[in-house]
Amino acid sequence: MALAPFEIRPGRDEDRLPLAILFAAISEERDGIASEPPVDVEKRAARWALEGMFVACAGDEIIGWIDVARSPHGYGEIGMAIAREWRGRGVGSALLEAAIAWARESGLHKLSLSVFPHNAAGIALYRKHGFVEEGLRAKQLRRSNGQLWDLVDMGLLLSCQDDEP
Ligand SMILES: CC(C)(COP(=O)(O)OP(=O)(O)OC[C@H]1O[C@@H](n2cnc3c(N)ncnc32)[C@H](O)[C@@H]1OP(=O)(O)O)[C@@H](O)C(=O)NCCC(=O)NCCS
Repeated sequence: MALAPFEIRPGRDEDRLPLAILFAAISEERDGIASEPPVDVEKRAARWALEGMFVACAGDEIIGWIDVARSPHGYGEIGMAIAREWRGRGVGSALLEAAIAWARESGLHKLSLSVFPHNAAGIALYRKHGFVEEGLRAKQLRRSNGQLWDLVDMGLLLSCQDDEP
């Protein structure tokens, strides 16, 4: 497939609202991300932490994001999503590569994330970039329809030191 014209750049303050609108749209799918509607767009816009945030843009439109929440314990926790019509075009890979590079530069020793077991695209994307399954949290999330969904934990070690207690 021809490369789609998109660019990856760090998130900015003015991205907050479009990001929150995209987040709300993806939550409507009730499938890949944990949040479900209703999303309070104004509150969500205010909550983004811009450190460790990268956005994918096509022209003026924000079509995806990845954020790395830096923990005080040296690892970063990833969240990401791509607008439905842009999936399968390499946007997720480009964002993940930017986040991994940022995490290395920032001295994080590990990246972690949680993904639903049915999210084949997500799991394949993370495996492709070196993440491995580390465990399953059974019936972790209660959905608005009452179902209890498992979560798969995945991780990518960026630097290794065997210093267990
Ligand atoms: C998961 C998600 C981020 C993937 O992003 P994307 O831009 O579609 O992924 P890419 O096009 O960069 O694909 C990268 C790799 O992922 C895998 N992949 C992508 N779509 C896939 C699919 N539908 N089925 C299986 N594997 C898939 C492939 O390994 C692909 O590499 P390849 O093109 O060399 O085969 C995207 O589907 C999404 O936003 N989903 C909804 C929200 C979500 O699930 N967020 C993650 C929560 S943990």
